[in-house]
Amino acid sequence: MRTLRLILPISVLFLSAPVPGQQSVDEMLARGEALFNNRIGCWVCHQETGEGLVGPSLLFGPTPMDIYDQLESNPVMGVIVAELDPSDEDLVAISMHIRTLADLPVSAELAEQYRTDFAAYKASRPADIEFARTERDLAVEAIESFGSVITGWERRAKEGSVLSHYDTELIAEFDPGEPKFTPEPGKTYFYENTGTNSVPAVLFDGFELPTRNQVVVGDARTKEVIASYALPESLRATVHTSAMSPDGRYAYIIGARPGGDADQFETVGGSATLLKVDALTLQPIKQIAIGGRLHHAQVFRNYLLLDMFARDADGLALMLYDTETDEIVGGVRDVDMGGMVYTVWSDKDYEYIYALMEPGGYAPGRATGMLGMINVYQGKLVAMRPFWIAKIDPDTWEVVREYPIPGYRPNWAVIDSAKENIYVIASSSVASKINLETGAVEWTNGTGIGPYGASLTADETELWVADKGEAAHHLGRTITIMDTEAGHAVETLYGAYKVDHVLLSPNGTEMWATSNGEGRIYVYDVETRELTHRIDMPMNGDAHGLIWVHYDENGVPAVVRDQGGFHNGINPALGITLDD
Ligand code: HEC
Repeated sequence: MRTLRLILPISVLFLSAPVPGQQSVDEMLARGEALFNNRIGCWVCHQETGEGLVGPSLLFGPTPMDIYDQLESNPVMGVIVAELDPSDEDLVAISMHIRTLADLPVSAELAEQYRTDFAAYKASRPADIEFARTERDLAVEAIESFGSVITGWERRAKEGSVLSHYDTELIAEFDPGEPKFTPEPGKTYFYENTGTNSVPAVLFDGFELPTRNQVVVGDARTKEVIASYALPESLRATVHTSAMSPDGRYAYIIGARPGGDADQFETVGGSATLLKVDALTLQPIKQIAIGGRLHHAQVFRNYLLLDMFARDADGLALMLYDTETDEIVGGVRDVDMGGMVYTVWSDKDYEYIYALMEPGGYAPGRATGMLGMINVYQGKLVAMRPFWIAKIDPDTWEVVREYPIPGYRPNWAVIDSAKENIYVIASSSVASKINLETGAVEWTNGTGIGPYGASLTADETELWVADKGEAAHHLGRTITIMDTEAGHAVETLYGAYKVDHVLLSPNGTEMWATSNGEGRIYVYDVETRELTHRIDMPMNGDAHGLIWVHYDENGVPAVVRDQGGFHNGINPALGITLDD
């Protein structure tokens, strides 16, 4: 049977111009058998014997009308319609073949009877019904396919350089205090910034929100928290990330507005500051105004690449920040991008900056994407203008390309090690794989609800997606593992509430997932997909972002992993990993 199937596609070609009524029963049976066992044929789901597999047994001897009905109504068999597209005469032949599998009699008379019945059956069916369309229906129809987004795309960014500058301002300096731990050469440590916004309802009874932001350090191998420092309440603002200088000597955490607490400006606007923290004492050294409120940060070349939540009137949406001088090297304003910048990403060589872009106007300023998306989930919006990715050359500061993307409000992007594809995670509960060269969307598929962060496994065959519940008002508690080739979910893991970011560790074998809801980090074994550790943050402060710092044999530290990717020579996708 196996050899037969290999030659079948050719025989199918020969047989597919039938002259009804002129074939012998043997010819019909051969034709039916060939179609049944075609590369994409019935056998795939009903087995060569017709006894059934994922599809039920066919040994009752279905008529051509039975098969026709299934093809019209059974979505699982859509693949047959798409690939085999059997003619009426093909269905007669297939049903004759199935009868032989069931030891039921076949004859030229039966075939002729089937043809007559089939023709009568089809003639008796009502023609396709056309429903009237309103003006509004027609307007929606004109925009409803993603193809219309691609073909109608007009550049949003201005031509030429989009570079802008902002002068930072030193607000205060502090005594860094004494080291809280002594790093050992050859070891790897994880750093975590935590906030004051865990979700007590999902935590244990008697939980009290912490009132202070913290910088936490732990041992990457044992997963134990070694030390932490709670910043003074007067320096508090809403934590959304962990950031460290490329050399691993300084941590950065958001600080209060120059005049005090910045929490009340969470949604719409308002500045805040950046606190520079000594990586060993975990205490602040400097407070710096950067023209907005920090969202995410990651190592980029010798700098930190920052994206901002809120920006001042003259502030930047994204910037390169020099951690030696605490000055902004350069950045970009939204107005030059033709939309609001949300988060920014890069490839492993820091060749380009990829900014996830939001159409403006769904809410004031930077809130546009989030509030737009909330309104979609709450049914107040039925469609939104498209979101896209802007690819920026950091040497010329030109937007060299824009990629329209499926779904709404993209949060996260991962670029594979070959720099061929970008995986984009959108709050509208889809992930997409987009070819960077052609812009083609290779696949888009559903994740858990309101996904946020994502990470590729070391062999890049799996994409792990943190199902946070972003914008959906849903307490996401799962991680969806997707096959990067097929674009399908292969497993859903149980996780922590409001799991926000998920990052492959520098040893290439663990996924670390930070939970905003519980103030914990969950660690999974990539191979077995088992939860191996739950690391409680001090006071269950909400955990945001994650950084691994490795000390080499000479005790020199370097950031090897942050939410943007792997750095300083480590990259599990290239087989360069750490033991810890
Ligand atoms: C991708 C899988 C798949 C393929 C390929 C497929 N089927 Fe099916 N088929 C199914 C499934 C699943 C069902 C059951 C659907 C349900 O329960 O609603 C089914 C149901 C049927 C039924 C109805 C059985 C009953 O008990 O009423 C017939 C007849 C049938 N298939 C014939 C065919 C024939 C003939 C082909 C090839 C031309 C084919 N199928 C190819 C999956 C498949």
